[in-house]
Amino acid sequence: MSSVFSLDGRVAVVTGGARGIGEAIVTGLLDAGARVHICDRDEEAGRATADRLGAAFVAADVTDSASVAAAFERVAAESGRLDIAVNNAGIVHNGPSEDLDDTDWRRVLSVNLDGVYYSCRAAGRLMLAQGSGSIVNTGSMSGHISNRPQPQSAYNAAKAGVIHLTKSLAGEWASRGVRVNSVSPGYVGTEMTQRGMDNVEWRRAWIEGTPMGRVAEPREIAPAVVFLASDAASYCTGTDLVVDGGYTVW
Ligand SMILES: NC(=O)c1ccc[n+]([C@@H]2O[C@H](COP(=O)([O-])OP(=O)(O)OC[C@H]3O[C@@H](n4cnc5c(N)ncnc54)[C@H](O)[C@@H]3O)[C@@H](O)[C@H]2O)c1
Repeated sequence: MSSVFSLDGRVAVVTGGARGIGEAIVTGLLDAGARVHICDRDEEAGRATADRLGAAFVAADVTDSASVAAAFERVAAESGRLDIAVNNAGIVHNGPSEDLDDTDWRRVLSVNLDGVYYSCRAAGRLMLAQGSGSIVNTGSMSGHISNRPQPQSAYNAAKAGVIHLTKSLAGEWASRGVRVNSVSPGYVGTEMTQRGMDNVEWRRAWIEGTPMGRVAEPREIAPAVVFLASDAASYCTGTDLVVDGGYTVW
């Protein structure tokens, strides 16, 4: 495919690629021609998904900066380069903020914000050295609005942080060939949202709050990531592409 959307010959890594939105992103990148490495702390699921889709697997826990750096360096050493890093691993914690303990706050921030920074830094070092690269972080509409009815202040704060971290790195690295963007999904049907979808009150609020009247399937998020990863987005950096069925317009 000789198209600006083609990722032929590009080497990609996707954190949290073992399942859910990450798995759909892996599929989208493979379809566009990239060689994709799933990077996940769940080794069993990650390897199984990689085998099924025709991707490679590398283990890392994004909260451990040395582990992420080693994983990304291994991908670059084995493939000769790293062109695309999708920093997507994330977790959620729901609970009233007045009752949140330090451990829950730190756990969410450490995966969703520290982990994205460590992954950006690891990818950025490799990409700046080669003079090119595209980083796409998974943000969330929760970085723009505060969800209801479920309280999740740590998650929302971390995702706002991801969106602004993305803009900060974009400004620093633009002149050296590295683009940094984010994609912010609305509600997507994955393991992360299963508890909410099973709760009648939450499910109703989520669907009624979305102009399109439904949650997304993971495959509806992936094309936005493929676009930002590709040369089609050659003039995009620091952009947050919201894919939320219209949730943030109300
Ligand atoms: N599902 C939604 O409605 C929704 C909406 C907006 C944004 N997001 C974001 O999309 C991303 C993916 O979410 P999902 O719904 O697919 O979740 P998911 O729970 O289905 O998958 C998350 C993946 O991340 C991996 N992971 C978690 N912690 C990790 C760590 N410390 N190191 C390495 N891997 C780790 C898990 O093993 C899993 O494979 C997250 O950043 C999430 O915040 C999800």
